Amino acid sequence: MSILTIDEIPIAGKRVFIRVDFNVPLNKQGEVTDTTRIDKALPTIEYALKKGARVILGSHLGRPKGIGFESAYSMEPVGRVLAQKLGHEVLLADSPTGDSAIKLAAELKEGEILLLENLRFNEGEKKNNEQFSRELASLADVYVNDAFGTAHRAHASTSGMVSHFEYRAAGFLMKKEVEFFERLLLAPEKPFCAILGGAKVTDKVAVIKNLMERVDSILIGGAMANTFLAAKGIDMGASRVEEDKLGLCRELMDAANARNIEFLLPVDLVLADSLEASETRRVGIEIGVPEGLMALDVGPKTREAFAAVIAKASTIFWNGPMGVFENPALAEGTLSVARAVAESKALSVVGGGDSVAAIGVAGVADKISHVSTGGGASLEIMEGKNLPGIMALL
Ligand code: 3PG
Repeated sequence: MSILTIDEIPIAGKRVFIRVDFNVPLNKQGEVTDTTRIDKALPTIEYALKKGARVILGSHLGRPKGIGFESAYSMEPVGRVLAQKLGHEVLLADSPTGDSAIKLAAELKEGEILLLENLRFNEGEKKNNEQFSRELASLADVYVNDAFGTAHRAHASTSGMVSHFEYRAAGFLMKKEVEFFERLLLAPEKPFCAILGGAKVTDKVAVIKNLMERVDSILIGGAMANTFLAAKGIDMGASRVEEDKLGLCRELMDAANARNIEFLLPVDLVLADSLEASETRRVGIEIGVPEGLMALDVGPKTREAFAAVIAKASTIFWNGPMGVFENPALAEGTLSVARAVAESKALSVVGGGDSVAAIGVAGVADKISHVSTGGGASLEIMEGKNLPGIMALL
């Protein structure tokens, strides 16, 4: 794609608005519990500082109501972590636009950083409101988007404000993300294996349909596999099944079959009576799930079968856990996929919160070609959609 990168536009001395995705998890004390998204934005921020830009950072955090400041969603803890990581003061404006932001942005010196308050404190952000877009744009001379994780949202900071700038570019993280997904979508080396998990078939239908034209194998785990198994007539006991998607699952399996795509469903399951259970038992799918029990992870035979397909792949895309990964008794399916992907020599791209977390827990992040910062964004790009945040940069 013909998108400029930050190192291809003049930024020295300029006020550079960098849209980052600092939508990071916070604990009850309001501390950042995973700094990955901050870490991955550092190269772009550090580059801008080194070039003598006046850096203005904008991000959303969580889903505030959009009616002004809410302390639970303040960027303040993020600013603290960022300042620590950069070893550099980070100024914080008390609202995304308005007097304080305007004054701080105007007085910003070369090599200084201003972090705006949560962009979603203004309802104009999510509504992609023209007035708010103009106010945001008026703070800066140059626009950079490094927020791949938010590129699927057509919001003021990712879309509306962009046309106000002569110079607009991708940050280094955005560039890297787009390049990896282009490799998956445009010229994947075969065999291409997609591993999909998570709660709902509904969330993955569009991805499965788009990938049908590209992949050689699709491995399905997580609660979404229950609906496919039920569609094959297997008794799923108390497992979560999307009854209204049984027909759709049959259609998808038929379509995969017609295209000679290896479509692997679990052949055995780990069962328990609750998501928090520490006692589990294994069952082969030929027996089905007994009444009162739920399928909450894939079993050892499935792990083996999945690992064998993963080992043959030259390209891998993985999104979604194989089971209730938060519970250690139900995490092995997801962790075994993480290890199998790491052991493969394939170009591997992993997106989505739980899969990325599993990569971390398995300690294999450095063996994955690309761990995406995008959850929803990585899915939508794999659905074949044009992401508004990327389109705006073209
Ligand atoms: C994400 O975490 O997926 C992005 O930051 C987008 O957040 P949103 O789903 O609240 O728009």
